[in-house]
Amino acid sequence: MAATPGQYSALSHLDCSACDRRYDAAQVCGTCECGAPLLARYDTERVAALVNRSDIAARPADLWRYHELLPVGDAGHVVSLGEGMTPLLALPRLGSKLGVPGLLMKDEGLIPTGTFKARGAAVGVSRAAELGMSGVAMPTNGNAGAAWAVYAARAGLASLIVMPTRAPEITRVECAAAGAELYLVDGLINDAGRLVAAALAARPGYQDTSTLKEPYRVEGKKTMGLEIAEQLGWRLPDVIVYPTGGGVGIIGIYKALLELRELGWVDGELPRLVAVQAAGCAPIVKALHAGADESEPWPDPKTVAFGLTVPKALGDFLVLDAIRATGGTAIAVRDTELLADQRTVASLEGCFVCPEGAACFTAVRRLRESGWLAQRDQVVVLNTGSGLKYPGTVPVRAGAEVPVLTRSDCIPAPAAPAAPAPIRRARTASRRGTRA
Ligand SMILES: Cc1ncc(COP(=O)(O)O)c(C=O)c1O
Ligand SMILES: [Zn+2]
Repeated sequence: MAATPGQYSALSHLDCSACDRRYDAAQVCGTCECGAPLLARYDTERVAALVNRSDIAARPADLWRYHELLPVGDAGHVVSLGEGMTPLLALPRLGSKLGVPGLLMKDEGLIPTGTFKARGAAVGVSRAAELGMSGVAMPTNGNAGAAWAVYAARAGLASLIVMPTRAPEITRVECAAAGAELYLVDGLINDAGRLVAAALAARPGYQDTSTLKEPYRVEGKKTMGLEIAEQLGWRLPDVIVYPTGGGVGIIGIYKALLELRELGWVDGELPRLVAVQAAGCAPIVKALHAGADESEPWPDPKTVAFGLTVPKALGDFLVLDAIRATGGTAIAVRDTELLADQRTVASLEGCFVCPEGAACFTAVRRLRESGWLAQRDQVVVLNTGSGLKYPGTVPVRAGAEVPVLTRSDCIPAPAAPAAPAPIRRARTASRRGTRA
């Protein structure tokens, strides 16, 4: 039976994030005439009439369970690889080491293409196809390009991807395997952006899906916020810690929290939002502490957490708003610290997180030491991707870090065998919800 129009999605229109212009969501839109990002708005009364929290609980464990709050108008246009409802894991050993026993990690490593970028790609590609586009084109630090290339392939759309030569190599492989038109640039994501903008002139039917230059990627990413609330039983944590490059994730999470509050599905204080950047590229941290409304381009950005190499984000003012409105903060961490913490998380909890995710654990350590975080705080860290996408971050050269034995060698006894400490597992949320 065909769905009644407006039943699958309660999308109403697009609002400019900076001025009071309003746009028709049925048209293909980029940014506002004033240059600022557009944000999707929903008819909240309609959402409330169509669905409630128990209906959602009965739906499949993917991000489309929130379809009334997503922009795709017809279920038949959904392009999916099974994304969403990633686990919200308790980290009791790490939490007690860092002095934050209520530490949780939302693990986006367990999603198609191994990073949270799949969320934006699933929703953005589905909507681009629904609006009749024939291709998508974007600059990327690697992970987003990989995600958009595979979702475009799944949708039968073409993709044009440009990434810096220093982006994680596996993301190139993913784009090439998915048949993307792929180019590398000896430069930064902003340089890639200029090349994409020029190439679009010769590609009618392609949408410019650069960060925040179309309104729907952020809608996919906001589902991280919806899931955190649902997995905690429609309660919000005290703090959410997020590795921030272009800022789409943190803007999306904040947007989700506001929409949930407007619907009355959550109440009380919003979580304090923390933007984590690398010391080698921290324009938002600098702007926040300088009291500025937007950031200055960061000169010569460099970090092993490559997704954070964004010298100036189009949505920087929205990130700053979200942090200030929730009483949050922004903090920069050094590569040496985050690489050490990447190993600590893996050795204490068995989770091999990406360097961007590792940066958030360093931030938790530092914010607890400074007293900004209290012991009683429930803190959710977003691990935005799998460490498997960055194998070079842990050196394991044969004969250097790892011994090589001949067949006749014996494995030496460990120096000081230690009895394993008993552990108590805290509440753990599964892919399908929360489990005690
Ligand atoms: C693994 C990872 N984490 C975080 C980010 C930053 O994302 P956002 O644009 O949402 O700030 C990126 C961006 O490339 C990334 O690849
Ligand atoms: Zn505007």
